[in-house]
Amino acid sequence: MPAIVLIGAQWGDEGKGKVTDMIGGGVDYVVRYSGGNNAGHTVVTPDGQKFALHLMPSGALWPNAAIVIGNGVVVDPKVLLAEIDGLAERGVDVSRLMISGDAHLIMPHHRALDRVVERYLGSSRIGTTGRGIGPAYGDKVARMGIRVQDLLDPGILRKKLEIVLRERNQVLFKVYNRKEIDVDAVVEEYLTYAERLRPYITDTRAVLWKGLEEGRTVLLEGAQATMLDMDHGTYPFVTSSNPTAGGACVGAGIPPTAINRVIGVTKAYTTRVGSGPFPTELFDDNGVHLRKVGREYGTTTGRERRTGWYDAVVARYATRLNGITDLVVTKLDVLSGLETVPLCVAYEIDGKRTDDMPLTQTEFHHATPIYEELPGWWEDISGAREFSELPANAQRYVERIEELAGTRVSIVGVGPGRDENVVRHSLL
Ligand code: GDP
Ligand code: IMO
Ligand code: MG
Repeated sequence: MPAIVLIGAQWGDEGKGKVTDMIGGGVDYVVRYSGGNNAGHTVVTPDGQKFALHLMPSGALWPNAAIVIGNGVVVDPKVLLAEIDGLAERGVDVSRLMISGDAHLIMPHHRALDRVVERYLGSSRIGTTGRGIGPAYGDKVARMGIRVQDLLDPGILRKKLEIVLRERNQVLFKVYNRKEIDVDAVVEEYLTYAERLRPYITDTRAVLWKGLEEGRTVLLEGAQATMLDMDHGTYPFVTSSNPTAGGACVGAGIPPTAINRVIGVTKAYTTRVGSGPFPTELFDDNGVHLRKVGREYGTTTGRERRTGWYDAVVARYATRLNGITDLVVTKLDVLSGLETVPLCVAYEIDGKRTDDMPLTQTEFHHATPIYEELPGWWEDISGAREFSELPANAQRYVERIEELAGTRVSIVGVGPGRDENVVRHSLL
C-alpha cells in the first residue's frame, strides 16, 4: 500500500509542483491535502509550457494519474472552475478530477475578512495571500464552515450561510466598517458553481482506500511548508493548516501506516513570502542576486520573495518532524557563480550556540546564523544529469546538506524543467 508524502521543508515555493510533476507519470493518484489557492505550484512540461497551479494537483499534466482534492483543502469554487477552464483551453483534460465532499469552501466573507483583518493589523500583519484561507479554516474549526457537499443541498447551503453571516456580517459592518454580505446573492452565485462542480464531488477517502488496497501508488502533494505549519512553524506567521507530513493523513483521510516514503523539498537556498522571522535572510547584494537569478517572485501574488542562505537547522528540524526519507534540493543552478556559498549550520542566540530550533519564538527572532563557508563553483550546471557531472564543489555542497539534514539527498534540481535534475536515488 504505497503512499508517498511530498512536503515543503522550508517556507514554501521550494519547487513542490516541479517535483510532483516529475514523478506524476509514475503514480496512480496525486492528492492535494491541505491549503487552498494560497499555493502556487509551477510546472514546466518538456515542451517548455509553463503552468501555475493553485488548487489543481500538479499531477494534472499527466494523462494517467487520477487527481484528487482531499478533505483538508479549502476550495474557492470560482478559482477552481477558472483553473479547470484555463487548463482545458490549453488542452489539458481534468475531467478525472475528484473533490472531497468534506472539503470546506472559501466564501466571500472569508476573502473580505482576510483582507480587512490584515489591513487593521498594520505592521503586525501576517502578509497573507489574501485568498481567505485563514478565515475559512477559522470557520471550519469553529464548526461554522460550509462544505463542498453543501453545494448539493440548496436548503442546507442557505441555512448554514444564514447562520455564519448573521455573526460575520456584524463583524464586517460594526468592527471593520465594511458592507454586509447578502445571503441571497451568495447562494445564487454558489449554486451556479454547484452545477459545474457536481460531477467531480465524491467520497475521495474511499477512492484512495480502494486504490491503496489494490496496491496503487498515491502521491500526497503538500502545499505551503513545514515552517508555515500552524503547529510547528513560526506561529503566528504561518498558514492556517498543517502542511507537514502528519497533515497528509488527516487531509486525505488515509492511515499513517499507508505511508512508506516522505519526500522533503528544499531549495539550495531559502526564500520566504510575507512576514515573520527568517534567520538567514539577506539584505545585501547577495539577496538581490538570489532573487534575480532565481526569479524569486510569488507564483500566486507576484510579491518579491525574501531571500537568504540555506538553513540546515531548518532542514534538520523538517527532516525529524516529517520523517523525510528523501530530500530534493532544487535550484542548485542558481548558486553557480558565487565565490563561496555560506551554509547556516547552527544559530547563536543570546551569546549561546544552538544546533536545534529554540524553544520560543522570541529566541528564534533573535537567532543569528553561524555559517560554514563552502567554496563555490563557476560552471553552468543546468546540463548535469549525473552527480559526477556536477563540479566537485557543488557535490560537496550537496553532501554537506545531506550530512547536516540527516537524510539522503536523492534529487538535485538544476533547472525548472521536468527533466532538469540530477537523480541520485529514484523517488519511486
Ligand atoms: P512550489 O510552490 O513549491 O511548487 O514552488 P513554486 O512553483 O512557487 O516556485 C518554485 C520556482 O522555482 C518555480 O518557478 C519553478 O519553475 C522553479 N524551479 C523549480 N526547480 C528548479 C530548479 O531546479 N532550478 C531552477 N532554476 N528553477 C527551478
Ligand atoms: P506554496 O504551496 C509561500 C504564506 C503567506 C503568508 C502566510 C499566511 O506555493 O509553497 P495565508 O494566505 O496562507 O493565510 O498566508 O503563508 N504562504 C506561502 N508562502 N508559498 C506558499 O504556498 C504559501 N502559502 C501561504 O505569504 O506569509
Ligand atoms: Mg509556490
